[in-house]
Amino acid sequence: MRIIEIEGKHDLSGTIKISGAKNSSVALLPASILADTDVTICNVPEITDTDVLCEILEYLGADVRRASESVVITPSTIQNKFIEADFSKKLRASYYFMGAMLGKFKHVEMSLPGGCSIGARPINLHLKGFEALGATITTEDDKYIVDAKELKGADIYLDIASVGATINIMLAAVLAKGKTVIENAAKEPEIVNVATFLNNMGAKITGAGTSQIRITGVEKLNGCFHEVIPDRIEAGTYTIIGALTGENLKIYNIIPEHIEALTSKLEEMGADIEIGADYLIINKKINYKSTNIKTLVYPGFPTDLQQPFSVLLTKCIGTSKVEETIFENRFMHLPELEKMGMRYSKNGMIAHIEGPVELNGTEVIATDLRAGASLVIAGLIANGKTTITNVEHILRGYEGIIDKLTDVGAKIELKEI
Ligand code: UD1
Repeated sequence: MRIIEIEGKHDLSGTIKISGAKNSSVALLPASILADTDVTICNVPEITDTDVLCEILEYLGADVRRASESVVITPSTIQNKFIEADFSKKLRASYYFMGAMLGKFKHVEMSLPGGCSIGARPINLHLKGFEALGATITTEDDKYIVDAKELKGADIYLDIASVGATINIMLAAVLAKGKTVIENAAKEPEIVNVATFLNNMGAKITGAGTSQIRITGVEKLNGCFHEVIPDRIEAGTYTIIGALTGENLKIYNIIPEHIEALTSKLEEMGADIEIGADYLIINKKINYKSTNIKTLVYPGFPTDLQQPFSVLLTKCIGTSKVEETIFENRFMHLPELEKMGMRYSKNGMIAHIEGPVELNGTEVIATDLRAGASLVIAGLIANGKTTITNVEHILRGYEGIIDKLTDVGAKIELKEI
């Protein structure tokens, strides 16, 4: 079993480089199979989620070469094989193989996706999109069979602006006949990154980043060279760490606009933060003003930063309110943080967090990826030693987290016990 041990109360200074975005990479790797020739994706983070997707690509018959931060994929040898639960359950984003395989082969068989248990997370909107494009869907136990004689462009309205459904429908529609319009599309930067990638391969997509995406199907797609955008959630996580522990902590390789919901909130709370073109410098402060956050789709406050941010709220003067509107089960970190001294109350999807309180190190469990990040932050500011178990969740999403924090002065270790 692997654990993370942290000795708290050390100030952090120096620089942290932000890696490529997990949520872009996990879509770009499956999307690569749509090309007929080699694809090079650079700035792919080395995390277990991307490792598993590369394994699935290899299982399907692609040649995958990783050289430092780049992944080169030869998709021409891919075969249409059943993606079984052993693969699909390892991560949520395995669902992108559905759209990509359907687009390429007009037929896909795969088991249900896995991922963090932060809510019911149905994929009905993905399936509704595939059906609108002409596919039929049958299920056998936990296996989906999606099949189409041909895929034809369609007008698709998403009841919820879902990131996964928007990307998956784009993947299925780029090689369909005619025009597809996705209404109420999600607008997250990762969607723009994936659309740019597909366009580099020869697709015709306009409107990515707005709520209406238009796709004109093309006959074939070619390989390309593409760069993953910086991870805005990783950037946000380290920014929150800086607000609590920073001594001129510089966080670079960021797109500041992508984390504006967070940095504006921090400024409103009294943070000492300087924002440059592709970096920010942050210093810790005490006596932050309490505040309210409500998670929303981009450009609103990201649900993925709600859990890390809640640790900062333990250091605010007064009671802060956190309203989660995207995932119904995203407060599992709170009982863990309570073991460390957090004082909170929760009613449905609203939590109130009291501050300021001292946190004390103890044994805590990472229940999901961003809950794990919140425990790391708590460990960094707590008195004494914090031991985190279930760390696989954390390693799924944060590249080199131990080294990055150690390099700026944290006392943090990954141990095998
Ligand atoms: C993606 C991100 C995740 C982030 C989330 C919201 C990846 C791999 N993960 O997750 O980190 O927290 O966006 O920004 O990119 N929904 C349905 N039916 C569907 C699809 C979604 O009801 O078919 C619901 C979900 O249960 C959720 C909401 O829509 O309540 C938003 O989910 P969605 O945007 O799809 O999130 P994911 O793509 O799963």
